[in-house]
Amino acid sequence: MNIGVPKEPEGETRVAITPNSIKKLVKSGFEIHVESNAGLASNYLDADYENVGAMIASRSDVLGCETVICIRFPGVEGINKGANVACVADPFRNPEYVQQCIDSGITLLSMDMIPRRLSRAQSMDVNSSQDNLAGYKAVLLGAAHVPKGIPMMTTSAGTVRPAKVVIMGSGVAGLQAIATAKRLGAIVYASDVRKSAAEQIESVGGRFIEVDGMDDFEDESGYAKPLTPEFIQKVNDTVCGVAADADIIVTTARIFGRPAPITVPSSAIQAFKPGAVVVDMNADVGGNCEDTVAGEVITTRNGVIIVGTSNLPGTLATTSSMLYSNNLTTFITSLVDDGAIVLKEDDDILVGAPEDSDFYVNGMGGVLLCKDGALHPKQTRLGGVLE
Ligand SMILES: NC(=O)c1ccc[n+]([C@@H]2O[C@H](COP(=O)([O-])OP(=O)(O)OC[C@H]3O[C@@H](n4cnc5c(N)ncnc54)[C@H](O)[C@@H]3O)[C@@H](O)[C@H]2O)c1
Repeated sequence: MNIGVPKEPEGETRVAITPNSIKKLVKSGFEIHVESNAGLASNYLDADYENVGAMIASRSDVLGCETVICIRFPGVEGINKGANVACVADPFRNPEYVQQCIDSGITLLSMDMIPRRLSRAQSMDVNSSQDNLAGYKAVLLGAAHVPKGIPMMTTSAGTVRPAKVVIMGSGVAGLQAIATAKRLGAIVYASDVRKSAAEQIESVGGRFIEVDGMDDFEDESGYAKPLTPEFIQKVNDTVCGVAADADIIVTTARIFGRPAPITVPSSAIQAFKPGAVVVDMNADVGGNCEDTVAGEVITTRNGVIIVGTSNLPGTLATTSSMLYSNNLTTFITSLVDDGAIVLKEDDDILVGAPEDSDFYVNGMGGVLLCKDGALHPKQTRLGGVLE
């Protein structure tokens, strides 16, 4: 069994497998081929890989392996028919990747499709490991740009009041953002459209922003459901009202498989105070703030700073690569049976939560998107997008 780890494309600083995972992979019977300098941008050197038993190889050797593990979809060129590609394909946004793999007979395993509420999935859940770091970094970026201190400070020159931070969306990234802002000494308010988030917000030191007549917008998988336009307006009015005098606003709201919802319309930016910083964690996928420019930090006419930094996990590439590598190593070694990777039809991680479980979501399979030139039969929702 061999695994290829390619260098990621321009703009991606992470690497999918780090040296600390190599021993575990070798022990499971894999030979690991790493493209030269694949780990350089995340500070893992070729020598670090070689020292623990990996081989440094050319790109074509790496892509020619039976299993290719990466972060971004690597394309199909150079990958053999019947090979496995494990990456974050984001298939609802990039259905063409799935189609290319179907046409080339490549097996595509997309880690962002993991049925994450299954307890066995938690150690393989790349969404959680990467979002957690991104939520932390978003607050640090806010703190770096805001023209005032965060904690309360009593000095001989006077007392500084603590900063007010508002976090919009309290999933994995949002909860980490609340905890980070709290640790810096801020007063933290947070919103969500899932009722279960209120307790979680309070458990990490935030204050839940209640919206009048709040219904529960949580679906059977634990993700947020799309809101009605009237309710979006109501949530935005209430939450942006609380944010009007905030120093830092971090937006994390997402709805699975859909564009990021707008939680900060342009009209709200007009009402924010000069010097306030909005960090938009979804800048790369359309943005939560109507005025975000992906990949840039801009200042609006009324002095609000909007941070649209791309790929937040990639700004912590050493740590995010290590966690991604741990997730993928747990995943790939779980597939080994008698010296070979076997994709079993009764593996819930691959094919989705069982129909009689609380976590079953109609039309959603698991990580296995396509194999042998066909979409997996459990991926009926994705099939609708491909047509
Ligand atoms: N192993 C597990 O059991 C496990 C693992 C990871 C996540 N989860 C759960 O899955 C759920 C989703 O987490 P996530 O981090 O993947 O979420 P996500 O990244 O899909 O979205 C971020 C948050 O934005 C919220 N949101 C959507 N629209 C909004 C709006 N208009 N205003 C405010 N908030 C809005 C969502 O409810 C969610 O909490 C959470 O309940 C989380 O705890 C469970």
